[in-house]
Amino acid sequence: MNKKEIKVGLLGCGTVGSGVYKILRDNSKSIANKSGANLKVKKVLVRDKEEKLAVKVDKDILTERFEDILEDEDIEIIIEVIGGVNPAKEFVLRSLKGGKSVISANKELIAKYGEEILATADEYGVDFYFEASVGGGIPIISPLKEDLAGNRITKVMGIVNGTTNYILTKMDRERADFNQVLKKAQELGYAEADPTSDIEGYDAAYKLAILASIAFESRVSVEDLHIEGITNISQDDISHAKELGYKIKLLAVGKDNDGLELRVHPTLLPVEHPLAKVDDVFNAIFIEGDAIGEAMFYGPGAGQMPTGSAIVGDVIAAARNIIFDAQGRIPCTCFEQKNVKEQADTQSRFYLRLEVLDNPGVLGDITSLLGKHNVSLESVIQKGRSNGSVPLVLVTHKVKEGDLNDALDKIKKLDDIKKVANIIRVEDY
Ligand code: HSE
Repeated sequence: MNKKEIKVGLLGCGTVGSGVYKILRDNSKSIANKSGANLKVKKVLVRDKEEKLAVKVDKDILTERFEDILEDEDIEIIIEVIGGVNPAKEFVLRSLKGGKSVISANKELIAKYGEEILATADEYGVDFYFEASVGGGIPIISPLKEDLAGNRITKVMGIVNGTTNYILTKMDRERADFNQVLKKAQELGYAEADPTSDIEGYDAAYKLAILASIAFESRVSVEDLHIEGITNISQDDISHAKELGYKIKLLAVGKDNDGLELRVHPTLLPVEHPLAKVDDVFNAIFIEGDAIGEAMFYGPGAGQMPTGSAIVGDVIAAARNIIFDAQGRIPCTCFEQKNVKEQADTQSRFYLRLEVLDNPGVLGDITSLLGKHNVSLESVIQKGRSNGSVPLVLVTHKVKEGDLNDALDKIKKLDDIKKVANIIRVEDY
């Protein structure tokens, strides 16, 4: 049977765009069998037609004008891999309004404008898919929307940023400091020249906003999240955590527990937790559903071919819908608007590292203030004797964050406390 040819427009041909181009070219036969159509990239939007691309593309199909793609009636699917909000948002909305299905890998755009984009796709009867926006090549959005749709999801917890996972893994294995490892990661191309979005947790926050909106069926925006990065994690924290049986990971945490808890922060994870074993640049998303129980999705969270893999999967789904004249996956699954808890009202266990003067009674003063604020302790490590300050590491039982902060405000004022050097949440397993 002769297959229909579906024409594709590619917006952007950098690392990810060239991966998409290669997969569509090299796996064309298998893709045609699965989608029911021959998929052909008809036009590619680039910034400069003379610029060298990471893949060999016929010069005749390159254009510097988005309108050449938008106005081409043959093109039915548009892939947006430009990144950032401008001009990606305008291009995506105009493409949808032009009756074209759109596939995007753009986490920032979807986290900030997903509601408007999905409503537009719905209004114009086309698809908007974004599997590649979270976890690179790992299938997680489509599983949450389809295969796990029978569940009420109660927890989504992920390592969704490869750069910070690489840095924390190296700090752990090589006993190196944060700045040393960051510099090496930049030299190797694992961290960007401006690493702010990764190391301050914003990249993970965009991904959590997307995941939580889908998992908990309630619109979550980045403003709803409590965000902490990894810049204040020291070698001391990593080695104390190890001594206590934990690894430190940057986690994106979403919980639906009489209201939503949503936060990105470094976390002490018990070494036996499946996420504690996710190292280097790998990503993983751990979920809990009332029917499935626990499940973890693991794999490469970025890169040319893994991200391209997720995008092409979406292109195939969109192509099948075009053939069957249907809209595929349900566009927006935010059916409710759930309350987001104040961070001070959430409960967690905490690791506290203090620098104290080694004077008699100091531990008693601290534990007494903690006790007065309902903070009970699970373990205490006090190191050495010295005339200067000594580290004191405390791990609390589950406490209300507001109570702990009240206690710490008072502890900071004690004469024998030099500083509260770090406060890190501890996740159970
Ligand atoms: N900067 C991201 C990371 C990759 O380090 O995981 C793209 O989402």
